[in-house]
Amino acid sequence: MAVKAVLFLNALIASIWCAPSRRCEPGEEILGWCKPPVEHKPKCSEVVLGSCDDMPYTHTVFPNLVGQRHREDVEASVEYLLLSVVRSLLNGECSPELRMLGCSVLAPRCQDGRPTRPCRHVCEAVRRRCEHGFDTIRMAWPYFLDCDRFFVSEEEGCYDPLEGLRGEETPEMLAASVAPQESATILQFVYHTHTQLLNTLKRTAAHCPDIARTYTIGRSSEGKDLTVIEFSSNPGQHDILEPEVKYVANMHGNEALGRELLIYLAQYLCSEYLLGNARVQTLVNSTRIHLLPSMNPDGYEIASAEAQQGGDIDYDEEGRYEGFMTGRGNGQNIDLNRNFPDLTSIAYSRRRHRYYRTDHIPIPDAYWFGKTVAPETYAVMKWIRSIPFVLSASLHGGDLLVSYPYDLSKHPQEENLMSPTPDEQVFKQLARVYADSHRTMTSHHTEPCGSDFTDRGGIINGAQWYSIRGGMADFNYLHTNCFELTVELGCDKFPPEEELYNDWQDNKEALLSFLEAVHRGIKGLVMDEEGRGIKGAVISVKGIRHDITTAENGDYWRLLTPGIHIVTASARGYVRSMKKVYLPARLQKAGRVDFTLKKAPLDLDEDDYVPAIPSTYERFDPYNQFARYNVRDVAESGIERQENPWWWSYFARSTGTAPNWLLKVD
Ligand SMILES: *[C@@H]1O[C@H](CO)[C@@H](O)[C@H](O)[C@H]1NC(C)=O
Ligand SMILES: [Zn+2]
Repeated sequence: MAVKAVLFLNALIASIWCAPSRRCEPGEEILGWCKPPVEHKPKCSEVVLGSCDDMPYTHTVFPNLVGQRHREDVEASVEYLLLSVVRSLLNGECSPELRMLGCSVLAPRCQDGRPTRPCRHVCEAVRRRCEHGFDTIRMAWPYFLDCDRFFVSEEEGCYDPLEGLRGEETPEMLAASVAPQESATILQFVYHTHTQLLNTLKRTAAHCPDIARTYTIGRSSEGKDLTVIEFSSNPGQHDILEPEVKYVANMHGNEALGRELLIYLAQYLCSEYLLGNARVQTLVNSTRIHLLPSMNPDGYEIASAEAQQGGDIDYDEEGRYEGFMTGRGNGQNIDLNRNFPDLTSIAYSRRRHRYYRTDHIPIPDAYWFGKTVAPETYAVMKWIRSIPFVLSASLHGGDLLVSYPYDLSKHPQEENLMSPTPDEQVFKQLARVYADSHRTMTSHHTEPCGSDFTDRGGIINGAQWYSIRGGMADFNYLHTNCFELTVELGCDKFPPEEELYNDWQDNKEALLSFLEAVHRGIKGLVMDEEGRGIKGAVISVKGIRHDITTAENGDYWRLLTPGIHIVTASARGYVRSMKKVYLPARLQKAGRVDFTLKKAPLDLDEDDYVPAIPSTYERFDPYNQFARYNVRDVAESGIERQENPWWWSYFARSTGTAPNWLLKVD
């Protein structure tokens, strides 16, 4: 601080001493608004700045338009550094226009010993098209690209700094190329720490307040928030007949790609919605989407420290991170995908019973008194019970495939035994949606991680792949209405940062298509004769021993394959109702099938009456912490810690100054 003050004083004295009229502000001297000292008279010299060597002129002048007097001053400045890296900062967006625009200020064209100024309309067009990119990375529009201050109109004799780029293009074509719909979502393909993850989600929700919000479902064992970002036309509430879908990632802390993909997906949904992308708007308008990028933030922290240390042991010859188990478990070293109640064994043991069910199986009391229930597991169980989810995927890493329940083998001694659910066909269809829209999952040219799954189209029954007990997908299916699949995103559990962009491209279409797949099958309302929805009514499909129940308002969703189905709705105290449904193969929306149930006569026939779902279902929570997620936004619940964006330290360190003008003020 003291040093700075002295320097400032020196500069002040110098300027009083040397300048007869008044001190020149940046850019003024060159316009003759103040008198420069003799040795600073502008002179034309060749353009020698590496980042500006493709400008449509060969001679520049110092001082430049921001008052930098020497080539060395420019090269050491934050302004010049920014131009040199803007391409990678914005992921190639608006490149090279931004760089050339900046060069026209830092290395302005010189003519007859005088600088000429770049045109304002060119600056304004670039700004319209590219400002959004700066917003995305929380960077302010750089002051030296201020169109009013450093650029001038045609009448004042300006030149077009982008001339070299355009070739034959006319000004009309330029205008067309800056239409707002041209701008695309800009994402930063970097890893996010836990704090960065939370801030990114909150900022995304703040950017799209009409369609997004964040909420937290609980805490990890070390106290980190398990934060979800939700997208829907009415964030925070279930809309009648609108299906709910979720993605859960990073359940294994060392499987980091899914976590990043969900952060990118959140930003993509928000920004594409705002840009008017019809597909994203249709999806968000008709679906409630929940993304939990990290179910295991404690494990991730351990794994990412390991990945950063990057000791030789952790990388194979291709530089791939191989740390296999470090950070897989949570803070208590519990593998969360073995920690759910094993309802699959219960389903298997009842196979020969008359009222054999594979749905809404209660959690046995023994679960709570047996092994430790991790707080992450508990939080997710609460979450999936409190929202009527229809479809879900859990994102993992280490292989490249989609697996579907059951994950537990039906034979205790067989580790690789095909163990289908009653919904085998539905699950296969859903698995294919992801695998087929993934860029490489079904391709025979893809290098397999271990076994080659491309012959099976990249999909496999979980138990056939390898049997696990206490997994999350089986729990979803056997305890709730939700169908959950497991996506293995690739061989690398923790891919190098420079591969993240490619990984996003590989998965983007698959992630979107899978969300859209929640609109397959049928949906509708089960009502009484007064048109009131019946909660907890049972939807059965002939030939599939897995029932679905209606949500709060009597609405239901039944994922189904195309074809003819016999569907029955029943509820205690009502006469059951049956419908024959034909689902065409190319149906884009769920078929609407409503039921109106008549009150049952008192002399009820035993067969017309459904055994009620066991009341033990209600006993889920022995710790009595069950609550609905009418939760307030995380953002509302405290002051967000202001954190500098990821690129900040780069500029501050490289130039030794704190260029605060780069920070966007929200
Ligand atoms: C989605 O909903 C918004 C708000 O109601 C509406 O403005 C927009 O046109 C809708 N988009 C599509 C594609 O349906
Ligand atoms: Zn995993």
